[in-house]
Amino acid sequence: MIYLKRPQEIKRMGEGGRILATVMEDVHREIRAGITPQQLDTLARRGIRARRALPAQLGYRSYPASICVSPNEVVVHGIPDDRRFVDGDVVSIDFAIIYDGYYVDMARTYPVGTVSKEAMHLIEETREAFAKGFAEAHAGNRIGDIAHAIETHLVAQKLFAVREFIGHGIGRSFHEEPDVPNVGEAGRGAPLRVGLTLAIEPMVTVHEPRVEIMEDGWTATTGDGNLAAHYENTVAITEDGPICLTAGAEH
Ligand code: MF3
Ligand code: CO
Repeated sequence: MIYLKRPQEIKRMGEGGRILATVMEDVHREIRAGITPQQLDTLARRGIRARRALPAQLGYRSYPASICVSPNEVVVHGIPDDRRFVDGDVVSIDFAIIYDGYYVDMARTYPVGTVSKEAMHLIEETREAFAKGFAEAHAGNRIGDIAHAIETHLVAQKLFAVREFIGHGIGRSFHEEPDVPNVGEAGRGAPLRVGLTLAIEPMVTVHEPRVEIMEDGWTATTGDGNLAAHYENTVAITEDGPICLTAGAEH
């Protein structure tokens, strides 16, 4: 079942999205050598609760924190711990909230201090892969057009889309239909309609990805120093094309 949202619902999701982007920016500002993932988690949880929103990830399938913090070869779902970041780390933050009954979901990858050229290329082109997918998110296209645009960009950049994890519809539930994969064929899959709200989220690695889940049941890692990045926004398809609901002042 695909739920199309009315303009009023999209407006509410946009309010949640602005709150989420604001707190993400607060987290970003604290990212430096010496800070720990647990400190960022506390900051994020307090920032969200102070704005009358709920951290959606806390308790979701027993997940123990409000944000995912995934350093270096961790692709997604890193559980915040007390290991301090060091200069050169590449850190992905994935964060979803519930505001006024609607979920919004967002991820960014940030450099800690000075990172390698390879790491910077990964971070920038993962964001660009999102942008290429976003540009295809208009009524009349299909899910496969988004997936194909993301994949094509990554192939051209000699980067790799992770296949084990994908984007999703989002709204009254965290994960709704349709699936939004990061590889696929143009012109295939569910049709995109006005009112559809999607989390578009390329997860990307420098070398061919082989993802393993660690013993904690969550942490998804390439396990071999193969750097990973993640860039995600909640997007609405409107009469006037796609709009990004998780945009702050900076995005
Ligand atoms: N925000 C992620 C998603 O898109 C993470 C969900 S797993 C969680 O599904 F446990 F961390 F919430
Ligand atoms: Co998501």
